[in-house]
Amino acid sequence: MSTTPNGLYHAPPVMKQDVYMTLPRQLKQSIPSPTRVPDVVLVAKASAVVPDVTLNDGHKMPALGLGTWLGYNAQGVRERPKASEVQEAVTWALDAGYRHIDTAYIYRVEDQVGRALTDKFKNSNLTRQDIFVTTKLWNDFHGEDQVIPALQESLRNLNLDYVDLYLIHWPVGQYANGTFDARDFVDTWRGMEAAQRAGLTRSIGLSNFNRDQIDRILAVAEIKPAALQVEHKKWASSAGQIPTFTEYAREVAAFAVSFLSVRESLGGLFTPSTLPLIRLTSIRYPIRSQEAINLNLQQPDLVAYCKQKGIVVVGYTPFGSLFYSRAREDAPPPRADDPQLVAIAGKYGKTVPQLALRYLVEIGVVPIPKSVAKERIEQNIDVFDFQLTEEERQVLKSFDRNYRVLPQLKWKDHPYYPF
Ligand SMILES: NC(=O)c1ccc[n+]([C@@H]2O[C@H](COP(=O)([O-])OP(=O)(O)OC[C@H]3O[C@@H](n4cnc5c(N)ncnc54)[C@H](OP(=O)(O)O)[C@@H]3O)[C@@H](O)[C@H]2O)c1
Repeated sequence: MSTTPNGLYHAPPVMKQDVYMTLPRQLKQSIPSPTRVPDVVLVAKASAVVPDVTLNDGHKMPALGLGTWLGYNAQGVRERPKASEVQEAVTWALDAGYRHIDTAYIYRVEDQVGRALTDKFKNSNLTRQDIFVTTKLWNDFHGEDQVIPALQESLRNLNLDYVDLYLIHWPVGQYANGTFDARDFVDTWRGMEAAQRAGLTRSIGLSNFNRDQIDRILAVAEIKPAALQVEHKKWASSAGQIPTFTEYAREVAAFAVSFLSVRESLGGLFTPSTLPLIRLTSIRYPIRSQEAINLNLQQPDLVAYCKQKGIVVVGYTPFGSLFYSRAREDAPPPRADDPQLVAIAGKYGKTVPQLALRYLVEIGVVPIPKSVAKERIEQNIDVFDFQLTEEERQVLKSFDRNYRVLPQLKWKDHPYYPF
């Protein structure tokens, strides 16, 4: 990784190399004369080479990975995993050069990821050490002593002895019936540290935590988070680094309303002894302007903050609202047919989705695009053989609108809702 003039790091371009072989003279002569035999033949089409980023614990993470969450269908209903589509996707991805797979217990596809990996370890040169696997702790296992059993279940699903990265999926806890579990995620982190010490995961990290929440973890952590996975938010006021009095007051009011509604819906949960769980300090930063790590939700402040703290930022939903099929009505531009983006992508012989991924890599974010289509899986990793100019980066930067694709409003009344 090298550093750009604005202080962010980016992966240098890596040229793909196909493998050619010069044909031995004897072999050429043995072929009947009307056939035109070239001197050099292509024997292996190279798969993409993805550079690594180094985590704060010394482990390496490939700078782009495959997402495996199937998302929502056009009606907004969660797609149910079919028998083998994710298994096929992971297999194609490994063939195309992906060495980083992102999954989660709640995606219900860990078993498919596991089958693809097991098959490759058996039938190719790939070994466990070649692949970086991330999975995530779901919200109903936030108790300190629940973390190891939850990870053990994921490992059984994945048919692995360890994962490379285990993340707390959300700071919000829930019980299995969906009601809020207001347990402090700091206790969950202690369970994560125990899981790492037990050798069940190489690294541990966070997902969907805001800055104040990260700071609370950093204040007590014996093992620092290695990574933060987010479609993330803006930390401070739009006017500057510190919220104005009006913004602060608005936050206090919003907090009071949400606290009262949570108390109403959870009845006896909020007793005088549990009240300290609700830390008023948590309202200091989260101004609810929305950002993500895609063109509409860029986070130079977050990326810089995490870089300063030695935390790698993994960007989910990296395409944001680029595709008409997925963009909500209120989603700001651009779409994949945006003339400026088409022109820049065309200059490098790339597509607009590839341009969006390349931009994220160059601002120091590790994108994890999801696809279950072979051609798009191959396309999405093919972003390490060109580099944008500063002017082109500025064009992509100009689409930042603090617009979040997945605000998860169903948890907005939870005391640890991060956005
Ligand atoms: N930590 C968290 O809370 C969290 C939340 C959300 C997601 N994630 C992770 O991040 C991953 C990626 O996020 P995401 O799945 O929400 O969104 P995404 O990767 O931005 O977009 C996926 C969508 O784009 C389509 N697509 C992929 N490549 C394309 C291309 N080159 N051209 C046109 N369409 C393309 C896919 O369709 P096809 O499959 O048909 O190609 C799919 O509909 C997830 O899979 C998951 O692993 C984590």
